[in-house]
Amino acid sequence: MLRAVDVSKSYGGVVALDGVTVSVCRGEVLALVGDNGAGKSTLVKIVSGVVRADKAELYVLGNSVDIGSPAVARSLGIRTVHQEQKLAENLDVIENLFLGEELARWTGPLHMVDFNSMVRPTEVALSKLRITTIADIRTPVARLSGGQRQAVAVARATLGQYRIVLLDEPTTGLSVEASARVMDMVMQLREGGCAVVLVSQSIEEVFEVADRVAVLHHGRLAGVFARAETTPEEVVTAVMGGQL
Ligand SMILES: Nc1ncnc2c1ncn2[C@@H]1O[C@H](COP(=O)(O)OP(=O)(O)OP(=O)(O)O)[C@@H](O)[C@H]1O
Ligand SMILES: [Mg+2]
Repeated sequence: MLRAVDVSKSYGGVVALDGVTVSVCRGEVLALVGDNGAGKSTLVKIVSGVVRADKAELYVLGNSVDIGSPAVARSLGIRTVHQEQKLAENLDVIENLFLGEELARWTGPLHMVDFNSMVRPTEVALSKLRITTIADIRTPVARLSGGQRQAVAVARATLGQYRIVLLDEPTTGLSVEASARVMDMVMQLREGGCAVVLVSQSIEEVFEVADRVAVLHHGRLAGVFARAETTPEEVVTAVMGGQL
């Protein structure tokens, strides 16, 4: 579904990624793990069109693609929940879920946003994640708690038809219950045929849902492990650069 070949990116003198090659298949969850600063978010940003690589070959469904902007990524069926996903503070929960892809209806010559048609999908998306603590979906997100805001950001991944979903530390700041629901969502996306890339600091989470685990260490690929053939100890050792 997605293949990123020989991806390199430096910020000034800092090498964020150095010749990294990873791929993820239809109906597969690839976990991306590594220490702070290992390059995980940089890779996610390159594939989602937020950051330009210095060098990379990117393929979607085997076709070479140039992902020059987030809009191009979306048009290729790539949906991303970024680490510290930005929400539009003054907009409410519904507006944030649909931001940039509001459902429209034609009324004469005017392209109108069909607000009512977004209410039900919002309720469904939140209930799928069992987000029950947001009392009013018309509340501006600026008034939500950190965990509620993160839940809204993650719920965006359940809307629309995407074939590649990138989740950069989606459960950070979420309760145990909400995190479990996000893991359910990941498994549902996989069952629906999506290719999912999950960046996570939680080895438990990784071993719960991932089919394969790619380990980054100082911007380099330190190994890719099939979950069925590895152990948490082996993965943690790779994360730490080969020394436990
Ligand atoms: N915009 C930027 N400008 C300069 N350096 C950057 C920038 N973004 C990332 N870096 C550097 O690139 C390296 C990789 O950062 P990245 O955010 O990809 O790491 P990460 O694996 O996602 O870490 P974390 O687990 O903390 O989220 C780090 O050394 C970081 O300081
Ligand atoms: Mg990161």
